[in-house]
Amino acid sequence: MKRAVRVFLYSLAGLACLAGAAFAYLSLRKPDVAPPPAIRIEPTPERLARGKYIAMLADCAGCHSPHDMTRFGLPVLEGQLLAGFQFKPENGVPGYVTAPNLTPDPETGIGAWTDGEKIRAIREGIDKDGNTLFPMMPYTRFRNLSDEDVYALVAYLNSVPPVKSAHPKTQLNFPVGLMVKFTPKPVTAPVPPPDRSNHVAYGKYLAAAGGCQDCHGENLAAANVFPFPPLKVIAANISPDRQTGIGKWTEKDFLDKFASYRDYVAGGPPKAGPDSFTVMPWLNFAQLPDDDLRALYAYLRTLPPVKKAIETHPGFPDRKKT
Ligand code: HEC
Ligand code: HEC
Repeated sequence: MKRAVRVFLYSLAGLACLAGAAFAYLSLRKPDVAPPPAIRIEPTPERLARGKYIAMLADCAGCHSPHDMTRFGLPVLEGQLLAGFQFKPENGVPGYVTAPNLTPDPETGIGAWTDGEKIRAIREGIDKDGNTLFPMMPYTRFRNLSDEDVYALVAYLNSVPPVKSAHPKTQLNFPVGLMVKFTPKPVTAPVPPPDRSNHVAYGKYLAAAGGCQDCHGENLAAANVFPFPPLKVIAANISPDRQTGIGKWTEKDFLDKFASYRDYVAGGPPKAGPDSFTVMPWLNFAQLPDDDLRALYAYLRTLPPVKKAIETHPGFPDRKKT
């Protein structure tokens, strides 16, 4: 063997060893896990109402339920609220990702979890058995929810009707599973409630809970694509750019846009054709109080305008903007 080739082969073997060592290290290392808080959540009427509101804002049901894909706004299938849903590679996720059944059913839901385990999963990304949750579950944002809002969420989850519905476990493509192991971080200090008198700060809190930037991008104009073959939609530019974003919208335009879906929430029938298919949680957000929509508007206006024309439904040139 020529020396150069031999050196090359040795270095390849060396690399393989290194990769092997890194692999072994990553597989053996445990995620950052704190014990679940020892707490039982008292389901007061205030908590149940607030929990329902946060669940609507954060659209827990959007991921954690099967939907009627033929109707605008993708309402949850009858009797399947929070019964779980599996995302497939064709939906743009790295493998088969199950947003599990969150109902109190003890076998197929989370009825056998303690309240502390639920709290830890929601804001620290660790399941009952100590495993890391894939961060498509927005725990990195939910850690900013106030303690009281997380307790309210748990009180609400405990109150929804149990549904028996089993799903396969999440299977991530290699090496995504290894890479996400270190995303979870314990919450170590109390999180106070947001200051509602500061409109911008409150809007920021609501935007984080509502996931605006998960879908629209940190800069509000990332053009993220949501494929549900044969349908797909692209997140609109909602930055304050006057030409390509929503910079020309007055506060009233913004409120009216959401209000325009209120009748539909009350039972309207429109079908979702490919030109109106959307994952934007209009049905949920139409129910937000005007004051919360005002706060969201105020916060969105504080971000820099981004010039980027985005076609939300490419291939439908005649379609007016939503
Ligand atoms: C963008 C999609 C998405 C949203 C929105 C979402 N989740 Fe999740 N959630 C997931 C996925 C995916 C998993 C599973 C991750 C995995 O298997 O690694 C998960 C896991 C969980 C778990 C752990 C369940 C188990 O059996 O392991 C809990 C509890 C949970 N979510 C609660 C919530 C709550 C409460 C909300 C709303 C406040 C919410 N989720 C919003 C996607 C989502
Ligand atoms: C699950 C993904 C998702 C989340 C979460 C989400 N959006 Fe959207 N949004 C979209 C998509 C996709 C569109 C484009 C299609 C449409 O208009 O429905 C859109 C459209 C919009 C529009 C209409 C823009 C226009 O030019 O017509 C506004 C306004 C908007 N979103 C605001 C928000 C706000 C505020 C939040 C957070 C409270 C939010 N969105 C959260 C996906 C999302």
